[in-house]
Amino acid sequence: MEAQVKPTQRVLLGITGGIAAYKSAELVRLLVKSGREVTVAMTAAAREFVGPATFQALSGRPVYSDLWDTRPDNGMAHIELTRNNDVMLIAPASADFLARLVHGRSDDLLSTTVLARTIPLIVAPAMNLQMWQNPATQRNVATLKADGVHIVGPGNGDQACGEIGDGRMLEPAEIMAALDAWAQPKTLLGKRVLITAGPTQEAIDPVRVITNHSSGKMGYALAQACAEAGAEVVLVSGPTHLSTPFAGASPGEPGGVRRISVISAAQMLAAVEAEVDESDVFIAVAAVADYRPVSSAEQKIKKSDAGLNIHLEPTVDILARIAKHARRSNDPRRNGTPPFCVGFAAESENVEQYGAEKRARKGIPLLIANHAQSAFGADENEVTLIDERGAEGEMRMPKMGKVVLARAITREISARLNPKV
Ligand code: CTP
Repeated sequence: MEAQVKPTQRVLLGITGGIAAYKSAELVRLLVKSGREVTVAMTAAAREFVGPATFQALSGRPVYSDLWDTRPDNGMAHIELTRNNDVMLIAPASADFLARLVHGRSDDLLSTTVLARTIPLIVAPAMNLQMWQNPATQRNVATLKADGVHIVGPGNGDQACGEIGDGRMLEPAEIMAALDAWAQPKTLLGKRVLITAGPTQEAIDPVRVITNHSSGKMGYALAQACAEAGAEVVLVSGPTHLSTPFAGASPGEPGGVRRISVISAAQMLAAVEAEVDESDVFIAVAAVADYRPVSSAEQKIKKSDAGLNIHLEPTVDILARIAKHARRSNDPRRNGTPPFCVGFAAESENVEQYGAEKRARKGIPLLIANHAQSAFGADENEVTLIDERGAEGEMRMPKMGKVVLARAITREISARLNPKV
């Protein structure tokens, strides 16, 4: 199977006048390195900050700035640039340029190209904190969003003017990530996905816990991938050090992740049960403790020379329970049935056979069997997808980064939810 979508877009990169233009050189390098073809168009103000020769050398292509450029065959650079590219990215976009976009100005090459374009437009604003916060700029950003322009950033941090706050252009690597996210097919639009991630901690006493080495990376990568695919994601997470992907997506925009932080298996179960009725998909990635102390001591247990026995009892298997749960939803498409359930299993041997047995035992349509040695804490993972077709439907995915893998798994889930996708 094709596990990885290779970006083959031709990117038209517009650069406007702002000190962040120096970062655009690195952005061109990263875009080219990712296999994209980059053509740069600069405003006159941008040329005051960085010379076109830099961008020509990095992109390996001519740089455009002049509306009257006669190089294109038809003498119409603004038309040729939009016809020959798949996406237009403006980074940095100055406050002035945002205002000009809102008004549909066409008095230089870049603004005319925006107006004449038939391709999607992504804009990375960069400006001083006060300029960004000014109601005029905020109005302009809202108008551009309503016009279908995709805004990435700005970021928060040190600014060239010496202030600290919102307004700096996202780092080139962050813009690349935003571009990748934007390019993912929106196969889960209108769907709500519930995910568990990370370890749980079961208290022995107020300072000691039973836990495991789960990092949460695979569950968080799936939350990111499902959000990129347009789903509304609820991430029920045990203790991790990871930051929530797309936590800041505005309500109503596809792709937001709402995180509910829990500690114990019992809390994870309660959070999942509270959310499941309005969820279409449940993905259990968490390494839930299988046992917990029957009771947790109220005070710290004192050390003694005698041994210590801790009596453990099994926890509820959240996945198996949800797989049998008849949802009580306002939406008749959900009502009376369980959500589409996906489980994970860590197997160190006989991966396919044990995985198939576990899928049947849990009563779930799709199980993702981790090849155990590759999973915990790592940035890469190697898995086999197992569904009700048994050996015939087995899909072994080569070792790959967890985010790329999560996108491939998300596509498989989408295809099973809606066979026409
Ligand atoms: N799971 C769960 N609740 C539990 C235990 C597990 O939801 N109390 C879910 C996990 O999130 C995962 C799958 O069930 O999706 C793992 O199943 P499990 O039976 O625990 O298998 P392994 O972790 O692979 O361990 P073992 O083979 O020892 O049973």
